[in-house]
Amino acid sequence: MPSLRLGDTIPNFKANTTEGPIDFYTYQGKSWAIIFSHPADFTPVCTTELGRIAVHKEEFNKRNVKLLAHSCDKLKSHVDWVNDIKSYCRDIPGDFPYPIIADETRELAVKLDMIDQTNKDDEDRALTVRALYVIDPAHKLRLSMQYPASTGRNVDEMLRVVDSLQLVDRIPQIVTPANWTPGEKVMIVPDVSDAEAERLFPGAIDRVPMPSGISYVRTTTEYRM
Ligand code: BEZ
Repeated sequence: MPSLRLGDTIPNFKANTTEGPIDFYTYQGKSWAIIFSHPADFTPVCTTELGRIAVHKEEFNKRNVKLLAHSCDKLKSHVDWVNDIKSYCRDIPGDFPYPIIADETRELAVKLDMIDQTNKDDEDRALTVRALYVIDPAHKLRLSMQYPASTGRNVDEMLRVVDSLQLVDRIPQIVTPANWTPGEKVMIVPDVSDAEAERLFPGAIDRVPMPSGISYVRTTTEYRM
């Protein structure tokens, strides 16, 4: 059973999609990519997820992120279902804005480690989970989420994690804390010396005293997205 871990290279693959056949690396180009699977077409939670992601397509464009949805249903099913999604989510601007892979053989779902282990050996009942992979321009897996069929994902969280990953790639001396959103304070990596931190953020570092006496919580808001 393959498994995908952070830092792995996502293997290239070819797939049939609602926008024609694709070669993943060519589709991704020099962009970031998010591949997200869903269990089945014509299901309520999946309809809301694909719809909300479509509504926010421009936000993904701004972050240079290409979107690619996946399920094991047939292409014809995807095409018909997209009509429903557009009818349900009336604020999707224009054409449905990203391709959906039709992985009828489940080959890709297995390769990308997306199959729910419940009923995994029963072809008729095995479902893909809500797997979501954030992939950087070097095709490395940078963040992975797995949600069950019962729980829809949060588009704000998808955008938030992309913001965090892209920010720390640009400024590797910082990390983003719990519940962070762009503009809020970030933390300085513990390995960065006080002198280096001061050089990077002159006069803009808040040092938080801790009962241990160890000075590891240093924050700043002096960064640009
Ligand atoms: C849904 O998207 O609503 C769903 C998908 C698979 C099983 C149950 C619900």
